[in-house]
Amino acid sequence: MDVSETTTAIIPFLDLAAPHLELAQELTDVFRKVMLTAGFVGGPVVEQFETAFAAFCRVEHSVGVSSGTDALRFALMASGVMAGDVVLTVPNTFIATTEAISQVGAMPEVVDIDDRTYNMSVEKLQEFLEGKCRRTDSGKLISLRSNRPVTAIIPVHLYGQMCDMDSILALAEHYGLTVIEDACQAHGAEYFSRKLNRLMKAGSMGHAAAFSFYPGKNLGACGEGGAVTTNDAALAARIRMLRDHGQVKKYYHDVEGYNGRLDALQAGFLHAKLPHLEQWNTQRRDCAARYNSLLADNPAVTVPYEPHWSRAVYHLYVIRTTARDEMMTHLKNAGISTGLHYPIPLHLQNAYTQLNYRRGDFPVAERAAAEILSLPIFPQLTAQKQSRVAEEALAFHSQTPTDDVRSGSDSLDVVELVAKQ
Ligand SMILES: Cc1ncc(COP(=O)(O)O)c(C=O)c1O
Repeated sequence: MDVSETTTAIIPFLDLAAPHLELAQELTDVFRKVMLTAGFVGGPVVEQFETAFAAFCRVEHSVGVSSGTDALRFALMASGVMAGDVVLTVPNTFIATTEAISQVGAMPEVVDIDDRTYNMSVEKLQEFLEGKCRRTDSGKLISLRSNRPVTAIIPVHLYGQMCDMDSILALAEHYGLTVIEDACQAHGAEYFSRKLNRLMKAGSMGHAAAFSFYPGKNLGACGEGGAVTTNDAALAARIRMLRDHGQVKKYYHDVEGYNGRLDALQAGFLHAKLPHLEQWNTQRRDCAARYNSLLADNPAVTVPYEPHWSRAVYHLYVIRTTARDEMMTHLKNAGISTGLHYPIPLHLQNAYTQLNYRRGDFPVAERAAAEILSLPIFPQLTAQKQSRVAEEALAFHSQTPTDDVRSGSDSLDVVELVAKQ
């Protein structure tokens, strides 16, 4: 047995070195090529990756940008979301989703999530659109909460699992809303569309979608990167302009834009990694299935739920337990790293006090935030290491009187939980 498989070895949350060692030669070749051609920004290396990534997502256009945050921001702007609009999303996402909304001058409003998938609840979205908005004579949808026009929805495909897109798109169409998928955690995830009667890839269903290539993502750069995918050629053209100072050609600026380009080195690295993504996603799915069976039948632990229409790619493997903090500490003491995605829902963050949400407004997201725990997952994670993670998680539970755990955690305060980390 390898020393790294012993019962005392540290188990990292993520191993970013492993894929780079596997692909050392290809990545070094990319580096050499970019150095020798000195085409650092834009050019054929970026274009080749964009074409390959569009094909991977089964869309017509992919535009490389400098981060997932810029991808969201540019997608919103290019779709016509205006300053003063409301964009609907969820409280349990990385703050970049709502930052992008605010940065275009719009206001985020959130709806609660589904208790099992942790993604946007279609029922809550419908409730919001039907009961918490009014229509003006000209047909505009106005949020009663903020008295502002609601123009777009950002469903977030959290942890690598797609939202129920048929239902979200049907509601969006009915209310005339733009849908921008936040696919930053969902490269390669699939959804069986009952409407289209086929599997659809993340990033191919909304008007546009945003991807992040932050190093820890399923497809990660060796630095920052992102992309917008879309089937709308005009929208892709606007994003190409926005990412490059509003230029249509060098020094001809139709609008003010941004410095938001994907650089050639990152595009080259991503292009070298892309052919491996399906395999890495399969390995992640295998890891998830293994955890599911190792943790099965333990009433104290809830494993991730994958609806029949979903093929998740497990960017994160998130369990739920009412004794989350104690389990996290136990695993840490056993040399096992875990994560919290995310400990404080966005509506309770200091950054959003001006939105005037209160604790209790989104009970499903709030409760999930107090109970979720992300276990180590990455393509190269071995079955032995997974067994040890599961053993420690379950050993912890067999030592814990269930009643105490349950009653103690019912009154969990999210802020308190974070302070204890
Ligand atoms: C759900 C979600 N949205 C947006 C982003 C922003 O991506 P980036 O960090 O590349 O700007 C991330 C990345 O962490 C994310 O997880």
